[in-house]
Amino acid sequence: MQSITWKCPSNIALIKYWGKKGNQYPANPSLSFTLTNCHTITTLSFEPKEDDGTLLLSFSYDGAPMPTFEPKLEQFFNNTEHLFPFLTKYLIEINTTNTFPHSSGIASSASGMAALALCLCSMEMKIEKTLSTEDFFKKASNVARLGSGSASRSTLGPVVMWGKSDSFEESSDDYAIKVSNVHPIFNSYCDTILLVDQDKKEVSSSDGHALLKNNPFAQIRFQEAKANLELLNKALKEGNLIGFNNIVEQEAMMLHAMMMTSKPYFLLIKPNTLAIIQKVWEMRSILNLHMTITLDAGANVHLLYPENEKARVIAFINKELVQFCNSNFIHDHVGLGPIEMN
Ligand code: DP6
Repeated sequence: MQSITWKCPSNIALIKYWGKKGNQYPANPSLSFTLTNCHTITTLSFEPKEDDGTLLLSFSYDGAPMPTFEPKLEQFFNNTEHLFPFLTKYLIEINTTNTFPHSSGIASSASGMAALALCLCSMEMKIEKTLSTEDFFKKASNVARLGSGSASRSTLGPVVMWGKSDSFEESSDDYAIKVSNVHPIFNSYCDTILLVDQDKKEVSSSDGHALLKNNPFAQIRFQEAKANLELLNKALKEGNLIGFNNIVEQEAMMLHAMMMTSKPYFLLIKPNTLAIIQKVWEMRSILNLHMTITLDAGANVHLLYPENEKARVIAFINKELVQFCNSNFIHDHVGLGPIEMN
């Protein structure tokens, strides 16, 4: 059997993708930091079989079957099989592992689907050798998108945007692109993820996106996201940390406001989510720190801060925040993106 392995990080959205149109296209463009320590490692092994037109694959997570992943995987292959017509000529085994809890609000589908998409594109390269490097990453991002929208952004690093926007010439709804000319302070930005709640989310992201359809504020939200993307791009280029913090927090608040105003409404934040936010807001000017918070579709809090404030922010976390997350947190930082491991 031949095999391919990709290590692919998760990402944290700063401008949120919330709402879809058509076949997994975003209702508004989004922008994220690619992370480093929160990652998925996926190995795809394959050997020739008779081409009887059927897809034959087995999937394991940490070496064991994982039935809860199978519906999403089946949907992924239904959506992407036509892009890899050679797949039916091979017997395929996929083994995957994560460094962080899945379905906990850390985007495990982002790193998972992106790692799988990269493995499939590498398989195509091994068999057909037809993709240029640029096409390789465009295709990987497009395929990842079909598995999970946010996964399109995990195929690159360190700062990535996905979705058509007039401010980014090369942008597309089909795939993500790297954001260029970002101030160097953001290339080493830190993200400590405070794990307030590690249980499976009550409403999945996919269901949350769909619920936006009946949200009376949806169109306003899409406009706001576009405007915030422009402002954030400017702050990223200028290294304007105050501007950065304002937009990032507004996006997090608006994301959860959309959940609260969907029909039916729902709530993913927990009391300790709010306790952390309030403590950060109370203390950052007192301590003269540039830390800011953002949230995914879950209760966990991502605390973002520049690397040169790391020691003081960690001291603050240990003193003031660990009580709200039972001392469960992950220190991560912005990274360069996925790595092929063989
Ligand atoms: C709040 O990418 O998980 O994290 O496309 O249905 O798989 P699907 O949704 P998903 O949604 C992510 C939503 C978000 C914001 C973001 O990552 O941009």
